[in-house]
This record gives sequence, C-alpha cells and structure tokens, in this order.
Amino acid sequence: TDPATVQALLLAWYDRHHRIMPWRVSPADRAAGMRADPYRVWLSEVMLQQTTVAAVRDYFHRFTARWPDVAALAAAEDAEVMAEWAGLGYYARARNLLKCARAVAGDHGGRFPDTHEELLSLPGVGPYTAAAVASIAFDRAETVVDGNVERVMARLFRVEEPLPGAKPVLVAHAERLTPAERPGDYAQAVMDLGATICTPRKPACAICPLNADCAARAAGVQADLPRKTPK
Ligand code: ADE
Repeated sequence: TDPATVQALLLAWYDRHHRIMPWRVSPADRAAGMRADPYRVWLSEVMLQQTTVAAVRDYFHRFTARWPDVAALAAAEDAEVMAEWAGLGYYARARNLLKCARAVAGDHGGRFPDTHEELLSLPGVGPYTAAAVASIAFDRAETVVDGNVERVMARLFRVEEPLPGAKPVLVAHAERLTPAERPGDYAQAVMDLGATICTPRKPACAICPLNADCAARAAGVQADLPRKTPK
C-alpha cells in the first residue's frame, strides 16, 4: 500500500468527518493559520489516557475555565487540582500533571517545548504524549501510536501476529505512513478512524475511506485483528 494514497484518503476523510473536540483546531481553521494551544493538547492527552473522550469533555472544560494556561495550573494548590480531577481515576496522572505544569512554568518560561526530546523530559510525559503534543500542537512529523492506531495498522496490513509481540511491526507501519504535510491532522485522523469506523467490534468497513486498501478486509479477517496473546 502506497503511503501517499493512504495519507490522502485519510486526510480527505478527516476534513469531512473529524470529531469536534474542545482542544482541537478544525482542519479549515488550521489551514487558515490557526494553531492548537500546546497546553490544551497536553492536558487533553493526559486526561484521555485510560479515559474516554465523552468522559473527558466536562473535566477538560472545568480545568481550562479554572486554569486557562499552564502558568495558572502551575500556581494551583495540589488539593484543588486533585479535587477537580476526582472521578477521572489514575490519580498519579493528576500529580504528574501538576509536576509537569510546574516544570514548564519554572524551567521553560511557561511555554511548552516543541521537540520530542524536551517534551519527553517533562514529568509524566512518555513517548505517546510527547509524540501527540509534538504532532498535534507543533505539527511535527511524529508518529502517534495508541490502541486505535495499532488496530488500524493491524487490519490495513493484515498483521496476524498477536499483541503485544506485534507492536514493533505495527509501529513501523505507522511510522512509514506518517506524512510530512499535516502530520497533526493525520495523527488525529487515524485515531478518529479507529474510534468511529475501524472499531474493535463490527467495524464499519462499508464507509471506511481505506476499505479498498485494507488487507484484512480483502481476506475477511478484519474483525479478528489485532489478535491478542492469551493471558
Ligand atoms: N484519543 C487520544 N487523543 C486523541 C485525539 N487527539 N484525537 C482523537 N482521539 C484521541
């Protein structure tokens, strides 16, 4: 499968069908020069780890209303932030959130760094979050791989090897497809496709922009992929 074809199909699909999210800049606004706020992208990505988009929405609005930028969050009391986080779970994330905000405010003059390396050096920022912020907020050609992306790659390239062993192969496919143009929109396009069309069960192949290119679909095995090693 030719990367340029997949990129063009996915970006055209995203232009029409992207989900509206409070931290997102629409493709049209982005084309007009608007940029996503790194603080909002980072906050949303931390909240979205282990939590659904639907559950995150209200929390995101409350956080950004109360702490509109990273300096404001950095100046918050620990207990206030923990109280706003209540219900999202995985409380280590909230503690790291504050540590990271304070590091950005203290060591980076209140601006999120724009390289993968520097992002990775921030507390609580791992490879996934660093890649997501670099691509979505700074439009760097970095590859974002979450469970949605793994599933899309496993099906598109019919990777029969089970997870977690298949991970390096899936990452390599995802990297090969990452475009130099519009990498941030592209990263969000793959995640949206995985969340809304290329779903774990009963994928909506009939309306998928990649259906003609999908090796799993050609073989009729899309619902079985990705396979998982039994625990
Ligand atoms: N899941 C996590 N981050 C996401 C994003 N930026 N877009 C869509 N789904 C996501």
